[in-house]
Amino acid sequence: MTESKFTPRVFSGIKPSGGLTLGNYLGAIKRFVGMQGAGFETIYCVVDLHAITVWQDPAELKTATREVAAGYLASGIDPEKSILFNQSQVHEHAELGWIFNCVARVGWMNRMTQFKDKAGSNAENVSLGLYAYPSLMAADILLYHATHVPVGEDQKQHVELTRDIAAKFNHDFKVDFFPLTTPVIEGPAMRVMNLRDGTKKMSKSGESDMERINMTDDADTIAKKFKKAKTDPEPLPETLDGLKDRPEARNLVDIYSALNDITPEAVIAEYAGAGWGRFKPALADLAVEKLAPISTEMERLMNDPAEIDRILGRGAERACEIAAPILKETYDIVGLLRR
Ligand code: TYM
Repeated sequence: MTESKFTPRVFSGIKPSGGLTLGNYLGAIKRFVGMQGAGFETIYCVVDLHAITVWQDPAELKTATREVAAGYLASGIDPEKSILFNQSQVHEHAELGWIFNCVARVGWMNRMTQFKDKAGSNAENVSLGLYAYPSLMAADILLYHATHVPVGEDQKQHVELTRDIAAKFNHDFKVDFFPLTTPVIEGPAMRVMNLRDGTKKMSKSGESDMERINMTDDADTIAKKFKKAKTDPEPLPETLDGLKDRPEARNLVDIYSALNDITPEAVIAEYAGAGWGRFKPALADLAVEKLAPISTEMERLMNDPAEIDRILGRGAERACEIAAPILKETYDIVGLLRR
């Protein structure tokens, strides 16, 4: 099967569960902005149906959905250039998700490492939605025949599963209907780590707020968090190789590199031999310089929720124009009667 018959189209999404972190910004949003107007149609989603796979307070869910939308907009997603919407307003996602529940195999789901991490020893008690989550994610992507999906490293397995689902659907129904989507995972910040433990991912839900930088943190908080970030006693090395087995140091260099759009090698070239007393304040200044305009704009947008809702509603209409015909054709392929 060739992928060429498909329009180059990007789809990606962010869950509105808790606030946005620097990991979401560097691993996802900043790159989404870069792909806008770069030869792709771009579709970005606030995936609220994914958020409810664990219980969400209804009022907080609405706020978190608007906050993710504000994060996209404040970072440079232009609702004229991209389609920006929240998932639940386009009911086709849930419908295609069901069809994919009938295509995906239980054995495939059992291999999903994120499910194992999230469910932990409580696997009997988590929602069925959490288990089926990757097939809804496949539906998000394939409902638009998306060819490229920019994500952080932690979502790679889910995009690979999306390819498996597309291939099995095409094979089972003897069609060449769904593309084999390419995960786009590139750059220095594909896995931004926890500031207190360089072996763990920075996440929205980590126990302590000191582990992460939130996109809404003010300048003092950002400076304090980087100052207290765990490091080792060594200064920065002469070459990148010298960061092997120094996960916390490597993480801070990668964050600097991604924020400043330079390679990690260039960061090392500039700071070789520097101690943390010099590097950490430079990193904090850089982070504040890049994030402060975004958090200010997010705050402004959050004061006008009606405007955010209007943008999401308009985006949902445009998303539906692409999604509805693809779902209809899927129903025809599967043999479901429709009006
Ligand atoms: P979510 O909401 O956990 O994360 C949103 C995006 O941010 C990236 N990310 C990170 N990147 C680097 N370092 C980190 N520490 C870090 N933390 C998060 C994630 O890789 C992701 O790209 N299942 C997805 C949402 C989703 C989706 C989709 C994505 C639903 N449908 C379809 C792409 C296409 C999720 O929970 O992402």
